Amino acid sequence: MKAISKYNLTALLVLSFFLLPVLVQAMEGKKDKPAAEGEEFLEYITEVNPYHEWDLWPGTEEFYEGTEPHGVLLITYVNDKALQGIEEGMLEEGMPNGSIIVKENYSDDEELINVTSMYKKEGFNPEAGDWFWLVHTEDKEIEESGKVGMCIGCHRQVEHRDYLFIDAHE
Ligand code: HEC
Repeated sequence: MKAISKYNLTALLVLSFFLLPVLVQAMEGKKDKPAAEGEEFLEYITEVNPYHEWDLWPGTEEFYEGTEPHGVLLITYVNDKALQGIEEGMLEEGMPNGSIIVKENYSDDEELINVTSMYKKEGFNPEAGDWFWLVHTEDKEIEESGKVGMCIGCHRQVEHRDYLFIDAHE
């Protein structure tokens, strides 16, 4: 009897040794992929994985000049997934699942107007590149979120580049 419980204990230890990393990975995976839902996504990009710590879109600088209808001056951040997609030239074939692009829109005197984001969530909206759209203000008020027709309507012009404008008009 004693021998069996000892055996059981060893089996349990061995099992948890292999299971733990799997569990941790699964939890991190969840953390890395917020739901395509306004509040959770906003919390993700401002608190869980703050976008201010991300890279800028390669080749852009802070306060580069934008076009209508976004701000006059822009700062565009990309998460690791999006950066990987850009560096691997995936604009045409589609950005990796989980890619996030966050763009701060400023007036000409560098006052923040709002923040517009795109989040690639597989299965969210296959008719429009599976992008989740969000607009929020400096004090974290959500102005638009989800399958926002206005955003999609204009970004569809660059559907062939996975709905992304930057570098589209060279
Ligand atoms: C009338 C056209 C138009 C509409 C409407 C529009 N955008 Fe854009 N968007 C652009 C252009 C053009 C750019 C490229 C940056 C620039 O020059 O302003 C851009 C850039 C972006 C980017 C950076 C990635 C990229 O595509 O280059 C994000 C993120 C973004 N827009 C989000 C949104 C969201 C969210 C909405 C809806 C609230 C929206 N946009 C509505 C034209 C539009």
